[in-house]
Amino acid sequence: MKLRTTLLAGAMAAAFAGAIPVAQAADVKEVQMLHWWTSGGEAAALNVIKQYLAKEGYAWKDVPVAGGGGEAAMTTLKAMVAAGNPPTASQILGYFALDYAEAGKLGDFTALAKKEGWDKVVPTALQKFTTTNGKWDAVPINIHSVNWIWLNKAIMDKIGGTEPKTFDDFIALLDKAKAAGVIPLALGGQPWQEATMFDSVVMSTGGPDFYKKAFINLDESALKSDTMKKAFDNLAKLRAYTDPNFAGRDWNLATAMVIKGDALVQVMGDWAKGEFKAANKEAGKDFLCYRFPGTDGSVIYNTDMFAFFKVSADRQAAQTALADASMNPEVQAAFNIIKGSVPARTDVSDAGFDACGKKGIADVKAANEKGTFVGSMAQNYAQPPAIGTGVYHDVVTKFFHGEIKTSDEAVAELVKGINNAK
Ligand code: BGC
Repeated sequence: MKLRTTLLAGAMAAAFAGAIPVAQAADVKEVQMLHWWTSGGEAAALNVIKQYLAKEGYAWKDVPVAGGGGEAAMTTLKAMVAAGNPPTASQILGYFALDYAEAGKLGDFTALAKKEGWDKVVPTALQKFTTTNGKWDAVPINIHSVNWIWLNKAIMDKIGGTEPKTFDDFIALLDKAKAAGVIPLALGGQPWQEATMFDSVVMSTGGPDFYKKAFINLDESALKSDTMKKAFDNLAKLRAYTDPNFAGRDWNLATAMVIKGDALVQVMGDWAKGEFKAANKEAGKDFLCYRFPGTDGSVIYNTDMFAFFKVSADRQAAQTALADASMNPEVQAAFNIIKGSVPARTDVSDAGFDACGKKGIADVKAANEKGTFVGSMAQNYAQPPAIGTGVYHDVVTKFFHGEIKTSDEAVAELVKGINNAK
């Protein structure tokens, strides 16, 4: 019965489509949003936007596709776009958006951007991803960074731990936890998580200039260098500190291990803080946030953007409403306080943020000024997905799980894969 009604409605819509110009159809007061924000903290943050739009009379049609890094979500999005049925907007990362823009699939929000002066408040580095040939086709709701570690404060106190400043300090801290019978490192063994952790290890091992040479410029000598081999060797050292059940674990379950005191620390982007918040934990009291040891001063960013696809005229008001809501300074403050990220707008005050958020905001500003604000390779902000998700995730995870045995082999595979994907 339901199928027949749908078919009938479809046939009627098709019959009318010729008669009523789409532009005159009533606006559809519904926002259909594709995203991968399915954890407690993520869902709570998304609620800020939902509620704002509800006040403006928009219904919310959720299209959640779980999986951090958005790989599964991007597969769903591709299918929807190919079927000519794109959502009102999709959460999207870096070069994924540029690919759709180049293919001419995205709408144009330049008029709204000009009216609201977005170009003056969004860091230039991000505008590379939100605009194409000067036209705005996506909006950034936040700036996340991946080079953080999240620690259980009670365990730190128990083992007498202090902030690790270097990679060697970090190993010494993990050893202390191990000696105290605590799982040192809470890890989710999924390719995107291991690759995201490796971004930090590379930055810590080689510093920002090396990171840029290797990952932004794809300089072959840097990719093959002893420094990159050392980065893989450092990554291998971390393997010894996970529990045996890490393979396949979701990132938020790894965060929960730290929240509950089953593990000392998680290396993860600041979306992890959203989980601490959702569990009513307080920065400085229940948990600690430090930059990944050896990376203080640099910010390896990824920003959650909402990409707006070309849709029929009756759906464009909903896109404008979502774009407008997302760029609203109060929405950005409320959303990011819950999400763990920092506002994409540089003019939002840090007043309502906790110590980690305040540090995040100050770090972004300083890194932007110093030229140490760099895109995450794992999150597709350094290179297009064919290299980021495609080659990098694959090589890092194979190395971490022992399929690629040595760091010599790992750099060779990385260079080979990148050259094939170029
Ligand atoms: C997104 C975050 C998200 C995380 C885990 C990242 O790719 O940028 O917003 O919380 O994945 O799902």
